[in-house]
Amino acid sequence: MKFIVLSDLHITLPGERLAGIDPAEWLGAAISRINAAHGDADLVVLAGDLTDRSRSAAYESLLEALGGLRVPWAATLGNHDNRDVFARIFGAERLDANGFAQSAHHLGGEVVLVLDTLEKGPGTGGWGRGTGRLCPLRLDWLRAELDRAAGRPVHVVLHHPALQVSPVHDAYLMEEPEEFLAILDGYPDIRGVTAGHIHMATTTLRRGIPYHTIAGGHATMREEFGPAPYRTRREGPGQMAVILSEADRTVLHFDNYIDRHPELPG
Ligand SMILES: [Fe+2]
Ligand SMILES: [Fe+2]
Repeated sequence: MKFIVLSDLHITLPGERLAGIDPAEWLGAAISRINAAHGDADLVVLAGDLTDRSRSAAYESLLEALGGLRVPWAATLGNHDNRDVFARIFGAERLDANGFAQSAHHLGGEVVLVLDTLEKGPGTGGWGRGTGRLCPLRLDWLRAELDRAAGRPVHVVLHHPALQVSPVHDAYLMEEPEEFLAILDGYPDIRGVTAGHIHMATTTLRRGIPYHTIAGGHATMREEFGPAPYRTRREGPGQMAVILSEADRTVLHFDNYIDRHPELPG
């Protein structure tokens, strides 16, 4: 089984640049890369921050661009998204029975569970809080889907990381992740938990489960380690996760679809 995670597309109004980057152009590069190199993938998951400011025209241009993707796709939301605007443009069938952008995908004997960590907040201009949350309804959905998975390999995709990876990002993670982590700990075969949000590539191993974050489809953050932690923002790479999984092995490639390093001869 093979699936791909794109994250943090931050799509703007057509032609509008964000920190000097045209997010639509970067999305186009991601779609070209997937069609050319990963046309055999079973699924592409968009892991939130689909748009930068939740504007209808941005969701419309994203939906139109996704028409060029030759692999089936699913989407969830990040703190820059608005669930109501998303549902209006993408269709209410993209939400689960509780109204969250959560979905389960049974692919080649394995299961991909897509979770929605967007939490609305006051004073955020119609999109979410910087932190995320899995409320009891969303956690119940996860429990039910893990029951249904019945021990098969499970992959989880969501926007907000559940684990601290970098002091400068601590204030923006999933709130109260303990129950989420305990649910995963109780399942026999979680192959990985892949998030976006912090615009940085990391892998953490906790109790036998790998938790990844990817740089995603807009500016990349770099941890500048040293005595006083801080981060800098870089132009790229544009990065997706390509996850290849079989009975006894799962590998995640951090596949840079925009990378300014020149190819070397030979
Ligand atoms: Fe983001
Ligand atoms: Fe985010």
